Amino acid sequence: MTEQDFILKGFDTSVENGKVTWESPSNIALVKYWGKKKNQIPENPSISFTLSECKTITEVTFSKKEGNDFSFEVFFEGEANEAFKPKIQTFFERIEPYVPFLRQYHFKIETKNTFPHSSGIASSASGMSALALCLMSIEEQLSVTQGLVAEAARSGTEKSNHYFNQKASFLARLGSGSACRSIEGPLVVWGSHEEIEHSSDLYGVKFNENIHVNFENYKDTILLVDKGEKQVSSTLGHNLMHGHPFSERRFEQAHNNLSELATILKNGDLDQFINIVESEALTLHAMMMTSSPYFILMKPNTLEIINSVWNYRAKTGSKLCFTLDAGANVHLLYPDAEAEKVLDFIKTELVAYCQNGHYICDTVGYGAKHL
Ligand code: DP6
Repeated sequence: MTEQDFILKGFDTSVENGKVTWESPSNIALVKYWGKKKNQIPENPSISFTLSECKTITEVTFSKKEGNDFSFEVFFEGEANEAFKPKIQTFFERIEPYVPFLRQYHFKIETKNTFPHSSGIASSASGMSALALCLMSIEEQLSVTQGLVAEAARSGTEKSNHYFNQKASFLARLGSGSACRSIEGPLVVWGSHEEIEHSSDLYGVKFNENIHVNFENYKDTILLVDKGEKQVSSTLGHNLMHGHPFSERRFEQAHNNLSELATILKNGDLDQFINIVESEALTLHAMMMTSSPYFILMKPNTLEIINSVWNYRAKTGSKLCFTLDAGANVHLLYPDAEAEKVLDFIKTELVAYCQNGHYICDTVGYGAKHL
């Protein structure tokens, strides 16, 4: 599909008001998105596990208004929130060509997260995908009334669901790149890759292969090493890849890693899985350390955890591994079958490296839900 396919051609202006609610999860990248072109186009393809517990719940109440400006208010966990407004304003400006009803309504956006606000966990993926889904539900209400359902959505529920999800992912990407990988699950690819059918730079697609049973209910325990504000915003971080001395080689490497990972996800080889996932995490940080300006986003406790994971693996033969986002927190990934043992290890050893002993247990999930 192209950008043109996502333009809503007409809508029913007689709908006065309504309310929609969605919950949408966070996701954790295995092959990382780091570097983007104009219009939120990624420099390389990425793949992530969709999570199930860390999510945003967003309710949007819309009502007809006069005037031609964007009009919205934002409440976060019950309180008016000004800080989120600029990002939403930019989001609205970017997506307006595709959802042209935006200027005709006032939107009250009420949002909350299931994870603690000051946990250093990025909420942009869950937050932007939840909002994109709410706007898609509004689009559906405005289109259905007048029988102006988008062309691709005309024939049958499955097809229309497919269009709905794809456009939701397309819109979410324009809010935050990684958000386009949160609509479905358990694995989503974003960015075109020659071996992955239907993959696109414009939206995420479900990784539609037979995933090996080893990855069923895979665990992600997030160790909260540093709950502070991000030292480098993701937008700034992505920009550091422009003119970066190693960028071209890195983008190539991501393509290769995704090819290999696609095979591993089907054959269940956990040792190879570990190699790719940990290398991707360290490469992401290596890119930051070698950019201009340069950053070290890991903290001493991040390294303590990484070393403990390696020792534990050497001692026990466990398939536990780590990955990192653009911050100090550590995501521990491990098979469901090892859950009890690994949790025990976390509680006895790793919890000492977490700020206030905090960590969050999550499991791979199946995407967003309409409430
Ligand atoms: C390190 O999606 O937050 O988590 O598109 O600027 O909103 P924007 O960036 P964002 O970047 C996420 C980067 C990452 C890796 C990943 O999730 O793939």
